[in-house]
Amino acid sequence: MTNQHIALITGANKGVGYATARELARTGHVVLLGARNHERGTEAAASLSGEGLDVRFVPLDVTDLATIEAAAAYIDAEFGRLDILVNNAAITHDRPHKPSELPVAALRKVYETNVLGVVAVTNAMLPLLRRSQAGRIANVSSGLGTFAFLTDADSPFREYGQLLGYNSSKAALNAITLIYAAELADTRISVNAVSPGFCATDLNGHRGVLSAAEGGANIARQLTEPVTGAFLSETGGTVPW
Ligand SMILES: NC(=O)c1ccc[n+]([C@@H]2O[C@H](COP(=O)([O-])OP(=O)(O)OC[C@H]3O[C@@H](n4cnc5c(N)ncnc54)[C@H](OP(=O)(O)O)[C@@H]3O)[C@@H](O)[C@H]2O)c1
Repeated sequence: MTNQHIALITGANKGVGYATARELARTGHVVLLGARNHERGTEAAASLSGEGLDVRFVPLDVTDLATIEAAAAYIDAEFGRLDILVNNAAITHDRPHKPSELPVAALRKVYETNVLGVVAVTNAMLPLLRRSQAGRIANVSSGLGTFAFLTDADSPFREYGQLLGYNSSKAALNAITLIYAAELADTRISVNAVSPGFCATDLNGHRGVLSAAEGGANIARQLTEPVTGAFLSETGGTVPW
């Protein structure tokens, strides 16, 4: 057992997840770096360990129940609890399709990762989070999944309004966040949606205006907010649902 907080981040071998891993490890957390690919996960964890940080690769494909269960069993055996779960892994398969031409198979893949994957990982980790003094679940979402954005004809992000799979998967994630927050309201576990801001990563062809490091710092800060059932904004305060 350790007094350090134990944090699991899914999809943490690159981008915002990797930056969040670095940020949490720098502030003294033991970070379990989840990644679906063994080589990419090992390399990412080794690179952060090389900075003197306590970061360990955990094989975890959020669409593969066997890897999720194995990860939970490892965390149980090694630490006996989990303090922070960051559901970060996500994909998009929208481009170059118009919504009306998006193959359902592409939509299904996105939902398997961005929606069902979050539920599968959360349910597997909840028994471990219940053993924490103050468990935290952060679902990495996007303002693109809010009805506030989808109904705002004047939004500067209007060009991203047609991402049927990605945006609707984040809308589902936002609903899932509220539903878990309600179920866990009487526990020591908080559940929030968090937003890294528009970061330059592979997900968006590096069109974002913030760095992944800034996104990771935003999420690390949002994890310290003493609230539950909120969608926390990268600029402070909350994002309208
Ligand atoms: N970038 C932004 O501007 C922005 C804005 C708002 C919200 N977000 C959210 O931030 C999160 C991270 O996005 P990002 O921009 O950092 O994207 P990214 O660079 O594409 O990273 C996505 C990560 O998810 C992993 N992943 C994909 N499918 C997986 C699966 N089935 N199991 C486990 N890991 C899987 C990827 O692993 P591989 O390397 O193996 O593919 C990668 O590590 C996402 O939830 C995204 O929606 C991003």
